[in-house]
Amino acid sequence: MASQPILFSGVQPTGGGIMLGNYMGAIRNWVKLQDSYNCLFCVVDLHAVTVRQEPARLRELSYRNAASYIACGIDPERSLVFMQSHVPAHAELAWLLTCNTWMGELSRMTQFKDKSAKGENIGTGLFTYPSLMAADILLYQTKIVPVGQDQKQHLELARDLAIRMNNTYAAKAKEPLLTVPDVYIPPVGARIMSLSDPLKKMSKSDDDPAGTVFLMDTDAEIEKKFKRAVTDSMNRIAVSDEQPGVKNLLTIQSVITGESPEACAAALEGQGYAKLKGRTAELVIETLRPIREKVHQLMDDKTYLDGVLKRSAEAASARAEKTISRVKEAMGFVTR
Ligand code: TYM
Repeated sequence: MASQPILFSGVQPTGGGIMLGNYMGAIRNWVKLQDSYNCLFCVVDLHAVTVRQEPARLRELSYRNAASYIACGIDPERSLVFMQSHVPAHAELAWLLTCNTWMGELSRMTQFKDKSAKGENIGTGLFTYPSLMAADILLYQTKIVPVGQDQKQHLELARDLAIRMNNTYAAKAKEPLLTVPDVYIPPVGARIMSLSDPLKKMSKSDDDPAGTVFLMDTDAEIEKKFKRAVTDSMNRIAVSDEQPGVKNLLTIQSVITGESPEACAAALEGQGYAKLKGRTAELVIETLRPIREKVHQLMDDKTYLDGVLKRSAEAASARAEKTISRVKEAMGFVTR
């Protein structure tokens, strides 16, 4: 395991908790990749507080994220599952990277533009967030980062920062200071759209919960959301950009069945949208039910979860420390 390339990824413990888009765009691929990589799966709680969080809710959702990673198929005996805030080196490297990140780079981040458009008082953490995300990744000499489409721009910054740090502080060193990470974006499912507005991506923090299927939704809730999913009046089951609602449902089917979206469409040829929605709901319910049950079980066993989190944070800290001390030495800090 130690010789395998390193994989890092995480989900924010925010909004209504982990939802179908997070599962399909990210977590499902983590599970697939965990045999081939040395993996760190982080509950990125420091990112969550870039916007105001209710403390009891943050704590609950943080535990629930960790439980969900495991329930989705992450094996905590092989992979590290930990809280970002349990490894202070994330914040420390974030500062060092922030000082090497340009205002212009952060101003161009679309996620910042979207999120800051919503609020009045915008915390500076929301602005510098991509440097923290780069720190998460670079701290462990990560080779691959499996994420959904919306994180691509952040990953490009992480790559640029790794190259910049290497060139600025270790140009003559035998080994680069920081590994330049690659992004892994799945061919299907990297951008699951809202069920109530298929032109908008599905989000855990949407004001309209009808558009988002959460991991913890009951079977009945999932069924209802799919029944009400917005489609169109063309009454044709095909994969087309003119039919974003239908395309989204076929994409969801495709991720679960492993068939192409076109094959999923062909299997429903001549049927109406009610059948398309019903079949999609069925597949999602069958997929999420065992996960949800496992999350409930794990949430009832905090002693177990605390054990996994502690063990993982200790292992992650030891690894993070190596990078932090090399970076600090290269930048000119007096060694301890
Ligand atoms: P977050 O919490 O918004 O989302 C977690 C993961 O889910 C993916 N995702 C989606 N995939 C498909 N369709 C969607 N509608 C959809 N919505 C979200 C995201 O692309 C992501 O992979 N900044 C990150 C968290 C983070 C991180 C990191 C990720 C912090 N540090 C280091 C990787 C590595 C975020 O806000 O993800």
